[in-house]
Amino acid sequence: MTTDSPAKKRLFLRSWGCQMNVYDSARMADVLAPLGYAPVDAPEGADMIILNTCHIREKATEKLFSELGRLRQLKQAKEAEGGEMVLAVAGCVAQAEGAEITARAPYVDIVLGPQSYHKLPEMVARAGRTGRAVVETDFPVEEKFDFLPENSAPQGVTAFLTIQEGCDKFCSFCVVPYTRGAEYSRSAEAVLAEARKLVGQGAREITLLGQNVNAWHGAPPEGGQGWHAEGLAGLLRALAEIPGLARLRYTTSHPRDMDAALIAAHRDIPAVMPFLHLPVQSGSDRVLEAMNRGHTAAEYLELVDRLRAARPDLALSTDIIVGHPGETEADHEATMALIRRVKFAQAFSFKYSPRPGTPAAGAPHRVDEATKDRRLQEVQALLRDQQAEFNASLTGQTVPVLFTGPGRQPGQLSGRTPWLQPVHVPGPLSLTGQIAPVFIRAGNPNSLAGELAQQEKTAA
Ligand code: SAH
Ligand code: SF4
Ligand code: F3S
Repeated sequence: MTTDSPAKKRLFLRSWGCQMNVYDSARMADVLAPLGYAPVDAPEGADMIILNTCHIREKATEKLFSELGRLRQLKQAKEAEGGEMVLAVAGCVAQAEGAEITARAPYVDIVLGPQSYHKLPEMVARAGRTGRAVVETDFPVEEKFDFLPENSAPQGVTAFLTIQEGCDKFCSFCVVPYTRGAEYSRSAEAVLAEARKLVGQGAREITLLGQNVNAWHGAPPEGGQGWHAEGLAGLLRALAEIPGLARLRYTTSHPRDMDAALIAAHRDIPAVMPFLHLPVQSGSDRVLEAMNRGHTAAEYLELVDRLRAARPDLALSTDIIVGHPGETEADHEATMALIRRVKFAQAFSFKYSPRPGTPAAGAPHRVDEATKDRRLQEVQALLRDQQAEFNASLTGQTVPVLFTGPGRQPGQLSGRTPWLQPVHVPGPLSLTGQIAPVFIRAGNPNSLAGELAQQEKTAA
């Protein structure tokens, strides 16, 4: 590797957790670019390493400390050669465990919570000057978006855009309200401006992000034409008018904030894709209540019916937790019954993991590990079957696919369906960024295989 230009510094970023961390990592790279940092894809020899962490489950935290142990050796090796490496821990573990990180890993130079990324350049300078760990874990949430740079590296055909952060819902099991702070929505102006920029850089599909994305309540644009003051539904309508933006998605939604306007948006706005991630967590009313989710199983099912009435081809995905304190066999059966009833196209399921400081962590009637394991296996087997069944149901159909880039094999393209399934299709790379009809030959459990439908083949 050549390092002729002294101005070029190598930045290695690693992200765990949700898409919001992926988005934040990209913004950290943007903020450091004017200082001469350019992203590299391996930690060896890097001048700066940022670990963007997740605190959602226990394993995530332990992964951070084992990774830090490995990176310490790289840092020491670099210093032994007279070089320097700035080691930073960002994200939700940084927010929640700032003091523990500096105590357990004193060689870490910077600890910064999710609301402090705009302060990175200043923190890098301070760390260099003082030689001591610099810690920033305040919640000046408005600042972050106001101070992040206008210029950003293009994300590609499919892009993420954070429109909302934080959470006021305080589910019994969850650390997010503590690590990301109170709910905050960016203004419609800011979101629309960023979306236009992403489209200008080649994005055809944008996924709006937020821990509670459908609670978005940002300021509407001044005198904006075609604007309907109806929360996320209004924002989607305004975004759908951006020329060149073909597809819109949003994640993660809470069932409680799924209002009539948003349901109607799935019916009325063609750019809004027929796929919705709507975490339910449990199918038992007792457990839902203990979780402080604010709805019953019947209310969730009714919501699903209304969504499917509005958009009959809507596919649903969800999150399930097994083994929340107090969960009985009957509760578990209720969860299995709800899954059978909804038929999810995709899902994530987890064993309950106690998080320090959350109400459930101190709750009685813990479920033992073996029971949690068994319940998780049952839930996952059912969800796997449902996903396989959904994918298989597309075999023989022709569906619009947005091509995102080269596939794994030469001559192959990768793309995604409206229902977020990955598709592999033989075809020219020139189709990247375009939407074309694809005949699905095989609906496999995790992806689809197809070929360009006849009309496109002759056109291409
Ligand atoms: N805001 C989203 C969830 C964000 S966290 C919502 O309200 O649904 C992503 C998922 O992680 C959650 O949906 C939940 O299923 C899981 N999760 C959160 N805390 C957890 C814990 N303590 N143990 C196990 N899974 C957890
Ligand atoms: Fe966590 Fe509940 Fe907020 Fe989702 S709604 S981020 S699960 S507290
Ligand atoms: Fe993890 Fe924080 Fe996202 S805890 S899931 S990185 S909001």
